[in-house]
Amino acid sequence: THDQTGTLRTPIVAVLGHVDHGKTTLLDKIRGSAVSEGEAGAITQHIGATAVPLDTVSQMAGSLVDPDDFDLPGLLFIDTPGHHSFTTLRSRGGALADIAVLVVDVNDGFQPQTLEAIDILKRTGTPFIVAANKIDTTPGWNPQEGEPIQQTYEAQSKQARQRLDENLYEIIGNLSDEGFSADLYWRVQNFTKNIGVVPLSAMTGEGIPDLLAVLMGLSQRYMKAEMEIDVAGPGKGTVLEVKEERGFGATLDVVLYDGTVREDETIVVGGANSPIVTEVRALLQPRPNAEIRTEKRFDRVDQVSAATGIKIAAPDLEDAMAGAPVRVVRDRDVDEVIEEVQAE
Ligand code: GTP
Ligand code: MG
Repeated sequence: THDQTGTLRTPIVAVLGHVDHGKTTLLDKIRGSAVSEGEAGAITQHIGATAVPLDTVSQMAGSLVDPDDFDLPGLLFIDTPGHHSFTTLRSRGGALADIAVLVVDVNDGFQPQTLEAIDILKRTGTPFIVAANKIDTTPGWNPQEGEPIQQTYEAQSKQARQRLDENLYEIIGNLSDEGFSADLYWRVQNFTKNIGVVPLSAMTGEGIPDLLAVLMGLSQRYMKAEMEIDVAGPGKGTVLEVKEERGFGATLDVVLYDGTVREDETIVVGGANSPIVTEVRALLQPRPNAEIRTEKRFDRVDQVSAATGIKIAAPDLEDAMAGAPVRVVRDRDVDEVIEEVQAE
């Protein structure tokens, strides 16, 4: 058996923000996909999960992230819908997160679901950074594909830079109205006290190296204590969606946020009427950098550890519900675990 005691858990990064501000496009750029383009009306309607390995992060971030400086396995990104009707999904995504990225369209500024997302982050006490997105739409912009923000800034005219700066200071002002001391991220010393604002473009990729560097630094420095949990313990997760899969019947897309789950283990899942007690028939893992929400090909694995997105096939899952807890029973009394699930 694997002894993973002391292993750092993959941090869970929720991406929140107003509709159309570019959350899915940002993740598409990082994982090299086009999920946003496939969405009806370009509206995200479910929570997604994507495990981005450390080597992808360091490739995207270039010189800003040296993989040797980190012992995190990577980042698990949770995509959330920004449309006003999906408040429950945003809360669920926010509650799962260790840290969050609040995406704000730099021209559109703060909007109702930006404020709603901030309320969720305040309530859950989740540390966050702000991605000031769509900087490429600044009039007169001279795009620098995939470059860090400093190089991009240096390539802009004085007018373009001024226009961007005005929009950025407006966002910093809005954050201050919400009670946060915020600044451009390169001026922030302590990211637990001040909110760092990272100007970027999900379209051209400029500024994304900076975002990844800040996320990795934040996770590693301030969250190490929490990550060093026993990832070999009995798994805990949340159901994202219940889906029919050919050959498996009803399956669960789950974010596993703690511990390990293995094939053949007994699990308890929250159901429409009462908790479901069942046995894991198959664990289907999306490929690295794949969005579990849209993935078609899964690798069958015999166990997985937090944090990750995993599809669980098991009998009797028809009544399982999105948002419900999933618990591995392992050495515990099954009634105790049922009570735990009911209490959630
Ligand atoms: P919801 O999930 O529905 O809340 O939207 P979202 O925040 O995921 O927005 P999405 O990524 O679907 O992007 C909305 C639109 O903005 C799409 O047409 C994107 O192509 C466009 N967009 C996103 N980021 C950028 C950017 O950096 N620059 C430009 N020019 N367009 C962008
Ligand atoms: Mg989206």
